[in-house]
Amino acid sequence: MTKQDIIQWLKEEDEDRLKKLWRQADKVRQENVGDEVHLRGLIEFSNYCIRRCGYCGLTADNKDVQRYRMSADEIIACAHEAVQYDYGTVVLQSGEDYGIKRDWLTNVVRCIKTETPLAVTLSVGERSYDDLKTWKEAGADRYLLRFETANQQLYDYIHPSLPNKISDRFEILRQLRNLGYEVGSGVMLGIPGQTYDSLADDLLLFQHLDLDMIGVGPFIPHPDTRLGKEGIPWEVDDREQVPNTELMTYKAVALTRILRPDANIPSTTALATLNSREGRELGLSRGANIVMPNMTPPEYRLLYEIYPAKACIDETAKQCHLCMKGRIYSIGRDIGVGQGGRVRRAS
Ligand code: 5AD
Ligand code: FES
Repeated sequence: MTKQDIIQWLKEEDEDRLKKLWRQADKVRQENVGDEVHLRGLIEFSNYCIRRCGYCGLTADNKDVQRYRMSADEIIACAHEAVQYDYGTVVLQSGEDYGIKRDWLTNVVRCIKTETPLAVTLSVGERSYDDLKTWKEAGADRYLLRFETANQQLYDYIHPSLPNKISDRFEILRQLRNLGYEVGSGVMLGIPGQTYDSLADDLLLFQHLDLDMIGVGPFIPHPDTRLGKEGIPWEVDDREQVPNTELMTYKAVALTRILRPDANIPSTTALATLNSREGRELGLSRGANIVMPNMTPPEYRLLYEIYPAKACIDETAKQCHLCMKGRIYSIGRDIGVGQGGRVRRAS
């Protein structure tokens, strides 16, 4: 698929033609990763964050957030609960929190890996090479770090570097790959200032980066962030601005599947936030093969507000577990067994 083809699909509004795109994505999904939907139990274990991202409600600039860190015992208890629900993976996610010390997280990873059969995915921001290496050696299997947008001007505006360190997520993605992690990345859709041209570049990059996991979800403005309050300080032609809609999300999920047939692609919580009734199911029917049921204990979950009105904010791990199972069976799909890592296909 050329860049022009991608842009044309992203701009497509005709329902019949889009049906073709959904069918093709679903077929590619079926042929390459099968009907199994893998479940990744998401544990949002700290909402402290040192960064000042313009999009995220947990930005250090947001003084109204009540911050928390879960204890190691709480996290490990969640992991055991994931085993009871037959999940193959736990995702340990946090803000970029240097109160999370390297050795502390090493110990948590090691406990989960010795006490359970789970794959462990980390999603804890732009940590040092030595941190990443130590966690890999402790048994961490996968790492998620979205590059958010490959447009440098936009990235620099929405994701300012720390004073003493340039933010280069592509370099970290390379390090992760060299360390032997399965690597996940992705972008937000419809960030103010994101053009069709730039989103097409992002989708093509998924191919070049040979990512194992690719998450794409709509940007949802948070009123306590720079982007939520002010947008961006330069003009973008309305006709070129990518909308942050449900439909755009399906297009991006479907194109991602077609460009990267054997990747693991989640139907994201942000999509479920735009359409709580059937967003997850439609994502799964248009290219996705992963869901990430939230397992964060309810008292903390409320405080992990990266964007407002997040799906599943009032539920318990058990409620999300039952809900997700029902949704998967309702569309005639199976629940994955085992860790659900990337199975490479010869191409
Ligand atoms: N809307 C949608 N997605 C968001 N993320 C952060 N803030 C928002 C928002 N306001 C996504 C980013 C990040 C992931 C953990 O959540 O892509 O990488
Ligand atoms: Fe959480 Fe449906 S998955 S309520």
